[in-house]
Amino acid sequence: MSEERFFVTGALGCLGAWVVRNLIQDGIPVTVYDLGSSTHRLKLIMSDDEVARINFVNGDITDLEELEKAMQNADVTNVIHLAALQVPFCRANPPLGARVNVVGTVNLFEAAKHLELKHIAYASSVAVYGRGDEYDDRIISNDAAQMPRNLYGVYKLANEGTAYIYHQDNGINSIGLRPYTVYGPGRDQGMTSTPTKAMLAAAAGKPYHISFGGYNGFQYVDDVAKIFIQAARASYDGASVFNLGGSVAHVREVVEAIDAAAPEMAGQITFEDQPLALPDGTDDNALVAAIGAVHTTPLKEGVAATIRHFKQALADDKVSLEQLSS
Ligand SMILES: NC(=O)c1ccc[n+]([C@@H]2O[C@H](COP(=O)([O-])OP(=O)(O)OC[C@H]3O[C@@H](n4cnc5c(N)ncnc54)[C@H](O)[C@@H]3O)[C@@H](O)[C@H]2O)c1
Repeated sequence: MSEERFFVTGALGCLGAWVVRNLIQDGIPVTVYDLGSSTHRLKLIMSDDEVARINFVNGDITDLEELEKAMQNADVTNVIHLAALQVPFCRANPPLGARVNVVGTVNLFEAAKHLELKHIAYASSVAVYGRGDEYDDRIISNDAAQMPRNLYGVYKLANEGTAYIYHQDNGINSIGLRPYTVYGPGRDQGMTSTPTKAMLAAAAGKPYHISFGGYNGFQYVDDVAKIFIQAARASYDGASVFNLGGSVAHVREVVEAIDAAAPEMAGQITFEDQPLALPDGTDDNALVAAIGAVHTTPLKEGVAATIRHFKQALADDKVSLEQLSS
C-alpha cells in the first residue's frame, strides 16, 4: 500500500492528465479535483483500467469549503495545483480568470493551512516575464525581472506572492514552476497550443497554420508532468518558483520536426512569422540545483512521439479533429 496519496487540481487538463498517468502507472493513489467533466485527455493517454483507478471529485477551486472537504476526504499527502484558466479564457473574462487563478490559489493554500499540510507544488507560468526585447539575455534565468504583459501573467505573479506569504506566515513550503510552451498529446487549448494542434493535423493528413513564430521554450508534456511530481515530493524549505528548461527552438524547427516525422505532409504545416511577447527561452539551472536532475526529451524526439501517439489515437477514435478549428 502506497504511503503517498496525491491530490491534483485541474487534473482533467493537459498537464494534469500526464501527472495522473505517471502516478497511476506507479501505483500511487490519486484524487483528481476538477470542475470539468470531460475525461478525453485522460483517455487519450491512459487505458480504461488505469482511468478506473482514479478517484474523481467534481469540484470548483473557487469554493474553499468544497475544496477542503475533498482534500480531507482524500487524506492527502502530496498536492499538485494546476487548476487555472489559460490566457484566452482570462482575456475573455478577466473577473472569472481572477477568481479561478488568484482566489483559487489562495483557497488551495488556505485549505493546506487548515489541514496542516506543509508542502505544495503549483503551476505559475513564463507569462510572469515581459517581452524578449526587455531583457539583455535571450534565455533568461530564474531571477530575471518580472513584468507580465497580460492579466493571466499578472494573476500568476499574484500566486507566486501568495505562496511566499503562506510560507512566511504559516510555514507552508512550496515550489512553483513556470512552464513555457508545453506540447504533446492532450495540449488542445491555450495560447501556445497551436504547435501541438499542428502535430495532430499532420497525423491526420491535414494542413495547419501555427498561430505564432519566433523562438520559444518547448517542453514535452511528460517531462513537465514528471517535474511537477518531483517538485511535489521534494523536501524543500521555503517558497520558491523556478523556470523550466526544455528545448529553446524557433517555430520553424518545430515545423521541420513535424515534416521529419510525417514526410508526407511536407510543406503543409506553416506558421505565422510573429513572435510571442516573451523571451526566447528560460533556463532551469536553479530548479535543478533545488530538486536535482530533470529529464528533457529532445524536440525532434518529442514531436515524433506526439505524432505517433496521435496517429494511433486517430485509428482508435480517441481524439477529435474539432480542436483544429478552435
Ligand atoms: N500548458 C502550458 O503550456 C502552460 C504554460 C504555463 C503554465 N501553465 C499552467 O499549468 C497549469 C496546467 O496547464 P494545462 O495546459 O494542463 O491547462 P488546461 O487548460 O489543459 O487545464 C486546466 C484545468 O483546470 C480546470 N479548471 C478550470 N477552472 C476550474 C475551477 N474553477 N475549479 C477546478 N478546476 C478548474 C479545467 O477544467 C482544466 O481541466 C495551469 O495552471 C496553467 O496556467 C501551462
